[in-house]
Amino acid sequence: MKKYRVSFEPFGKTIDAPSDKNLFDVARKAGIELNSSCGGEGTCGKCKVIVKEGEFRTDSTTKLSREEIAKGYVLACQTTALSNLSLEVPHESIMRKGQKIATGARARELERLLKNLDKEIKPRTRTIALAFPPPDLEDNISDTDRVKRELSTLGFPPERVFCSLKFLRGLNHILREGNWKITLTTIERGNTLEVIGIEAGDTTGLRYGLAIDIGTTTIVLYLVNLIDGKIIDVASTYNSQARCGDDVITRIVYATERGGLGELNSLVISDINGLLNILTQKRNINPVLIDSIVVSGNTTMTHLFFGIDPR
Ligand code: FES
Repeated sequence: MKKYRVSFEPFGKTIDAPSDKNLFDVARKAGIELNSSCGGEGTCGKCKVIVKEGEFRTDSTTKLSREEIAKGYVLACQTTALSNLSLEVPHESIMRKGQKIATGARARELERLLKNLDKEIKPRTRTIALAFPPPDLEDNISDTDRVKRELSTLGFPPERVFCSLKFLRGLNHILREGNWKITLTTIERGNTLEVIGIEAGDTTGLRYGLAIDIGTTTIVLYLVNLIDGKIIDVASTYNSQARCGDDVITRIVYATERGGLGELNSLVISDINGLLNILTQKRNINPVLIDSIVVSGNTTMTHLFFGIDPR
């Protein structure tokens, strides 16, 4: 496979691009997000770039005017390099990301609604603080049995407690780090109490949850204090899946016919993780203390979030 050097102005970026990759994908690899609402089908005309120098092959120019073609405009998603290329990305083709979306009013409205509901805050998860006597020669049962014994005094018999392998891997270290005081995050599934998290010390007074609204255009993330139900902060971003199509139908086609399900799933997860990082850093909150997440979205958005084929 041949490779060509492709440079992007005004970004001052140059990367090696395989000759079979279209310029839309090459730009993405260079960290440049171009606008798109057709998922690279060549029908929206939003991914225009200007070829300043070099040879290329382009499959469709239907969305370009005669003047634009004369000036060197091409649709990035329809064009591949045949030599080293020097490109200019016009302002209107650059995806606007990370812009502030007005969410303050939504948060306030949500808070008012929650207040009026006058409901008790009841997350599905529950945190339990435990304190143990350290082991000695008389009392040398395993760490897991020690946790189960303590839980049984709170009404959870050992046969009803399930500890995952992930939990067991962290247990001995955290027990000692916390000087035999820990906080378990648990969830009741039927008759079983499943331990899903463990923290050193008593962290029951610090509990956080997320409410995530995945819209086709925007993603909004609310960080909630699970002790008093207050919304601590809100962050939002444009849904990066837009580069694979503006509307749900285009994204379903992108996921199913173009094998892009994994990509769409990663895009929404990375948008959410990005917002989560911003909020936890800003509020100085350990993300481990977030133990409940509620996600809402339309049918297509929820399928893509869970990585389920929306066909
Ligand atoms: S025309 Fe290229 S992404 Fe739509």
